[in-house]
Amino acid sequence: MDISKISTGIPGLDSMLQGGLIPGRVYLVKGAPGTGKTTLAMHFAMAGVANGENVLYVTLEEPAENLKVDMTRMGFNLRDPRFTLIDATPTAERYVLISDFFEEFAANIEKMADAIKRQFQERRYTRIVIDPITMLKMTATKETEYRKAFLSFVKSMIRLKTTVLLTSELERTDIEEYLVNGVIELKVFEVGGRLSRGIRITKLRGSGFDDAIRQYEITDHGMVVYHDRMVSLP
Ligand SMILES: Nc1ncnc2c1ncn2[C@@H]1O[C@H](COP(=O)(O)OP(=O)(O)O)[C@@H](O)[C@H]1O
Ligand SMILES: [Mg+2]
Repeated sequence: MDISKISTGIPGLDSMLQGGLIPGRVYLVKGAPGTGKTTLAMHFAMAGVANGENVLYVTLEEPAENLKVDMTRMGFNLRDPRFTLIDATPTAERYVLISDFFEEFAANIEKMADAIKRQFQERRYTRIVIDPITMLKMTATKETEYRKAFLSFVKSMIRLKTTVLLTSELERTDIEEYLVNGVIELKVFEVGGRLSRGIRITKLRGSGFDDAIRQYEITDHGMVVYHDRMVSLP
């Protein structure tokens, strides 16, 4: 593997990325609910842990307890001390578990950046997952303000020298796609009455990549990408 790149934890995807992701940048994984964004993000997180890195995972939709159950079933070890899971879902029991500090993660994209910076005072993280960013966008009142805030978020993450993976289930993510360094799309197609899953890299700054739609599956052991199998569109 290209030593200047880091693994996503999914060998077939690393092949499509010609070795993996360039570290210290911000990436977006987009796809409809159920396409496998969280699974992909967890592979990325755990590849960091396996590499001896500290990883921060902020969950904004799926409560931490559900995430732990689902991901442990797929064989991920979320108990590793290098892995920090922050539950910023609206239903998190803040009064019991945590102070309003964690609430900041979910307020908006600026507060998210601040909360991450504060988290860095305790420990440096080289990988961060924010899953998903959907709500952070919903809270923005104006698109121009959101654009500015998102750009400033990307810049602060780059200053922190950490690799960030964002997920989104929104159809339209023009602003984000324009400002991040790479975009990976997950899609489920119906081909001849059967569901077929396809993964495609639509943008990757600073590296060549495979731009075909490749087949992937979600199994008991997580996501498998077949970098040699094309998915033909219906
Ligand atoms: N063991 C498994 N075998 C096959 N598919 C699974 C398994 N576990 C979960 N899935 C599928 O994975 C998908 C959920 O993936 P997830 O990463 O949570 O998606 P997203 O975050 O995009 O909503 C669902 O479509 C679910 O049916
Ligand atoms: Mg998810």
